[in-house]
Amino acid sequence: MAGHRKLQFAVILALIVTLAAVPAAFASGHGKKHPEKTGILLVAFGSSVKSAQISFRNIDRQVKKAFPKVPVRWAYTSRIIRKKLARQGQQLNSVAVALAKMMDEGFTRVAIQSLHTIRGEEYDDLVQTARAFTTMAEGFEKITIGEPLLSREKDLQAAAAAVLANIPKERKANEAVVLMGHGTPHPSNAFYAAFMYHLQHKDPNIFVGTVEGWPGIDEAVDWLKSRKIKKAYLMPFMSVAGDHAKNDMAGDEPDSWKSIITKAGIKCVPVLKGTAEFDNMIAIWLSHLKIAMAHLK
Ligand code: CO
Repeated sequence: MAGHRKLQFAVILALIVTLAAVPAAFASGHGKKHPEKTGILLVAFGSSVKSAQISFRNIDRQVKKAFPKVPVRWAYTSRIIRKKLARQGQQLNSVAVALAKMMDEGFTRVAIQSLHTIRGEEYDDLVQTARAFTTMAEGFEKITIGEPLLSREKDLQAAAAAVLANIPKERKANEAVVLMGHGTPHPSNAFYAAFMYHLQHKDPNIFVGTVEGWPGIDEAVDWLKSRKIKKAYLMPFMSVAGDHAKNDMAGDEPDSWKSIITKAGIKCVPVLKGTAEFDNMIAIWLSHLKIAMAHLK
């Protein structure tokens, strides 16, 4: 998949360089510089789940409210999601295509905001792609990138405070909250454990597991048992309550977190809300975008 993506990117890049060569000749003839045009590019992993779009709409609304004069564009980093949406007649851009289109629209400065949760593979790819767009001839004058949700120590603190505020009010102190993060083989996977440390500093019955990394559901069940937990709230720690939240977390299949925890004798209450449905979480991404915008000058 990564190979395909790289190839696709190389082709696009070659196209852009070729296309850009034409107006460049005009520009040098007239000795004219492009007028300044600033834009924002919001970059999410993406989701094909309809109800998950509430998260993206929420972010879109809040970014436009914070920067009312700046045009906002979107890109999805997941190729699988983009292909799936394309089959349903919905065209979502990759980062490279979104930037190429913005270049075509005459944008000279772009603040990209990563809407990812940790600085993993998707973020690394985003940084690489953005860099290519500034180093190429006729590239943007400047691109800055706002960091993912959990990047600095203060982000971990702010996100922990937000999670505590977003837990359903009826949850009692002796009941657990299990957050389901995505998880990754990327070294940034360690952010999940760091985040749990921050959370437990304030509330010892909050746990963070991941679907695709460590710690996983087995560790989470061990923690719940060792604390003699009788009831647990399950919440996705992903921007959207998409496929993972609906199926891997709250699904009825025997291997879902809900089924596994229930089988361990613990009552489960799934809460199907992505982090980007909460304004206090979006505020963290927004604070990163504000920094990216300030550095664009
Ligand atoms: Co996944």
